[in-house]
Amino acid sequence: MSKVLIIGAGGVGNVVAHKCAQVPEVFSEILLASRNENKCKVIAADVKAATGREIQTASVDAENVEATVALIKKFQPKLLINVALPYQDLPLMDACLHAGIHYLDTANYEPPNHAKFEYSWQWAYQERFQKAGLTALLGSGFDPGVTNVFCAYAQKHLFDEIELIDIMDANAGDHGYPFATNFNPEINIREITQRGRFWEQGEWREIDPLSIHQEYEYPVLGAKSSYLLYHEELESLAQNIKGLKRIRFFMTFSEKYLTHLRVLENVGMTRIDPIEFQGQQIVPIQFLKAILPDPASLGPRTKGKTCIGCDITGTKDGKKKRVFIYNICDHQECYREVKSQAISYTTGVPAMIGGAMLATGKWLRPGVWNMEQCDPDPFMDMLNQHGLPWHIQELPVAE
Ligand SMILES: NC(=O)c1ccc[n+]([C@@H]2O[C@H](COP(=O)([O-])OP(=O)(O)OC[C@H]3O[C@@H](n4cnc5c(N)ncnc54)[C@H](OP(=O)(O)O)[C@@H]3O)[C@@H](O)[C@H]2O)c1
Repeated sequence: MSKVLIIGAGGVGNVVAHKCAQVPEVFSEILLASRNENKCKVIAADVKAATGREIQTASVDAENVEATVALIKKFQPKLLINVALPYQDLPLMDACLHAGIHYLDTANYEPPNHAKFEYSWQWAYQERFQKAGLTALLGSGFDPGVTNVFCAYAQKHLFDEIELIDIMDANAGDHGYPFATNFNPEINIREITQRGRFWEQGEWREIDPLSIHQEYEYPVLGAKSSYLLYHEELESLAQNIKGLKRIRFFMTFSEKYLTHLRVLENVGMTRIDPIEFQGQQIVPIQFLKAILPDPASLGPRTKGKTCIGCDITGTKDGKKKRVFIYNICDHQECYREVKSQAISYTTGVPAMIGGAMLATGKWLRPGVWNMEQCDPDPFMDMLNQHGLPWHIQELPVAE
């Protein structure tokens, strides 16, 4: 049994707190800390009502390493689950090293003034974590996270060699607003408006934003327009899946969403550089975040399902084979369980499971690791037990 410190009381933090509270045999005590402690207290009250468990709360600025170290030393957790923002990844990794505890996050570090997604900054901590005998687990959400584990599972059990992977992410949920993002709007819009990228024959290929799309037939959801984006798990999977020839990532967007995004981009509202406004500096995308619906408020309004999975082609026993490994998640069922929509749910459940892998020692190995570098089996078992059951569909091999 382990004490866990959760940092970040947003949509995902809410789910992680609920799900950790549901497994007292793994997480004996929980401290939820965020910049604004009131948000933690609201979540703690909901968790108490749902599970009967008390969780502690605190206020912390995760960018202040000393303050986080002091909090860790006082509470003495075994691990820290970072579900604040990607900007806080490095200071939180530093705090874990100083205080001697394990680290986990769900999104790779991004410098605030440059929309750039890559693992280099966090992989640079490899030696420090190794020397300290501590584990840092990167990207334990759904994508990245479960998608990496699906690929590791396919490599271990379903294929002799994997050639092609398309990660397919569909959200067929409707929240009734003309425009809102399902998780932090700043992080979400920065991801979508950058140039697309995929990996083929050992090289990265770049395309204009949202310029490649396909109609993909999702189980349960049916056909949906899915757009090629760069997504961070491509970087580690391209390195860790042996024999891979191509890996891409696709996400669904409605025409309405894309029209709003185009207009916001054209008028400069998605800019990430500061501008002068009435005598003060503001960053347009941060102002936009302030006026858009809070993703945590979408829960009660969102109806429909998500389907996220990996479409994998390769060979087994000399024969070509193609499978889709996926999960279907229902927004309203998530809301009934933890008062959150499926996007936060599908991120928060794997963050709890990754935490359990560290807390129980199953994935403890000094160093900095991406999810596919760990044994997929215990993680896949916990997905089935904790609200994200997965399925495997055999597909005809594309000519
Ligand atoms: N891998 C995946 O599948 C996946 C999917 C979705 C999201 N994510 C990641 O999950 C994370 C959380 O997303 P979310 O939707 O929950 O975002 P969110 O609702 O904006 O919540 C972020 C939380 O972090 C807190 N925070 C921000 N800066 C902080 C600081 N300096 N110190 C302490 N706390 C701070 C915020 O506190 P205040 O409210 O007080 O500002 C807020 O409670 C993000 O990193 C996102 O990229 C991953």
